[in-house]
Amino acid sequence: MTDIDPRPSVIEERLRRVKRIIAVTGWKGGIGKSVTASTLALLLAKRGCRTGLFDLDFAGASDHLILGAKGLFPKEEKGLEPPVHEGVKFMSVVFFSENKAVPLRGANVSDAIIELLAITQWGELDYLVLDMPPGINDAALDVMRFARKAEVLAVTTPSVLAHDVLARSMELYRKLNVPVLGVIENMSDGASAPGAAAVIKKDPGLEAALGRPAALLKTAFAKGLARALPALGL
Ligand SMILES: Nc1ncnc2c1ncn2[C@@H]1O[C@H](COP(=O)(O)OP(=O)(O)O)[C@@H](O)[C@H]1O
Ligand SMILES: [Mg+2]
Repeated sequence: MTDIDPRPSVIEERLRRVKRIIAVTGWKGGIGKSVTASTLALLLAKRGCRTGLFDLDFAGASDHLILGAKGLFPKEEKGLEPPVHEGVKFMSVVFFSENKAVPLRGANVSDAIIELLAITQWGELDYLVLDMPPGINDAALDVMRFARKAEVLAVTTPSVLAHDVLARSMELYRKLNVPVLGVIENMSDGASAPGAAAVIKKDPGLEAALGRPAALLKTAFAKGLARALPALGL
């Protein structure tokens, strides 16, 4: 049956004019994937790059809150055209969940994500940033399978547990031939993850800047991320 699944070729066509896809991943929730993905998208757009951001975290979509994107909805135009917010083409699963927690199980999450990848019209982009569901589960693996160009940007915290899970996840990505741009250790307290390309400290000013993109870009967090980009090949 998989042979006649039209979705891979539809998605390939949809993403054909996207130069690079950056999948921001991490092993669990609450470690800074969304602030990293949202801030990265703002930084790239500010640089003049055509940028998209896609929040794929059904369990905890939050990029719309971080970016203060209220009252937006995609336009129906031979598929869905993402609204533009702060110079970023923005899509989120939250547009389709009406802000309720979405009680989807694994296979349904995968299906919904694949459906959205198939209907979204990104057009011409230099970067598409994906805010991934936490962990390496079916949904995350499907995104990698369908968005073939995706490169992983991993976020971790200083915990020993985090390092261990991260090492195993990176090993899996290597086996799947998914390029890994690097690891950002976020909310660092000084110690750093083995092999971390960048270390971002805990920023007491970040919380107050959420929802206000201009203020967000002035935080120590955003400045730390901006400094880290060259080491990550961005
Ligand atoms: N470096 C940091 N300093 C201070 N707070 C941070 C930092 N990184 C993330 N946070 C905060 O941690 C919380 C979780 O971040 P979030 O990006 O939503 O994580 P995830 O997407 O991994 O669930 C948010 O309230 C965010 O503002
Ligand atoms: Mg998140």
